[in-house]
Amino acid sequence: MGAMLRNPKLWLFVLCLLPLVRLFVLGFSGGLGANPIEFITHSTGTWTLIGLLVTLSITPLRRLTGRTDLIRYRRMLGLFAFFYATLHFITYVWLDQFFDLAGIAKDIVKRPFITVGFAAFTLLVPLAATSTHAMMRRLGRRWQQLHRLIYLIALLGVIHYLWLVKKDLTQPLIFGTVLVLLLAMRLPWGLRVLHAVRGRLARPNERKTESSAERLARSRGT
Ligand code: HEM
Repeated sequence: MGAMLRNPKLWLFVLCLLPLVRLFVLGFSGGLGANPIEFITHSTGTWTLIGLLVTLSITPLRRLTGRTDLIRYRRMLGLFAFFYATLHFITYVWLDQFFDLAGIAKDIVKRPFITVGFAAFTLLVPLAATSTHAMMRRLGRRWQQLHRLIYLIALLGVIHYLWLVKKDLTQPLIFGTVLVLLLAMRLPWGLRVLHAVRGRLARPNERKTESSAERLARSRGT
């Protein structure tokens, strides 16, 4: 039990469930506002996008900190993004459209922001389906190529958001800026910036080790 509680993956799992728990709590306490469907759509859509961006931040963070173990959390984060995207989609299909398939098809064709959102969700499905270690081994290099679709999916997510917002573009633009930065950190110059920042972060530690080594040398009188 103690070992389980010390497992960071368990805590991350609980953390990722909190947006859903919040929706339930608000739902049962009448806190979803005048338009609960809109509230749930907005919440699940926002958490899908946050999930995608957090998943995309793992590789730059790993490069910045040298903590290779961070990769262990990437799959769970990606699957949570898919989980919230599925809830978002179900909210639309069930609560918003009442399974009116003809209406949904018309919406997908006629409303550009729905077209883009639907494309992003459709592309997420094969990534979730191939997220297991067995699939990773089976697909080999093709797995990596397939999972690069995450860049396009996140971009479509931001475009979907930008397109649906009528007045204040601040929030989608913030998401867009974060995405551009995360993508830039994968380009050669972005990698150079990460490398330089990592060097700066590492230097104080190097100094610390040097001084303790010096101290040791002094105590030995060498
Ligand atoms: C990866 C896929 C998707 C992402 C990242 C995403 C993200 C978002 C975000 C961030 C919002 C706005 C939240 C807010 O206003 O605070 C939103 C709203 C919305 N999304 Fe999505 N979405 C995705 C897929 C879809 C799909 C597949 C559909 C339906 C086919 C859909 C339908 C909607 C609708 C109807 C709204 C509300 C529009 C309004 O308020 O006028 N989304 N989505």
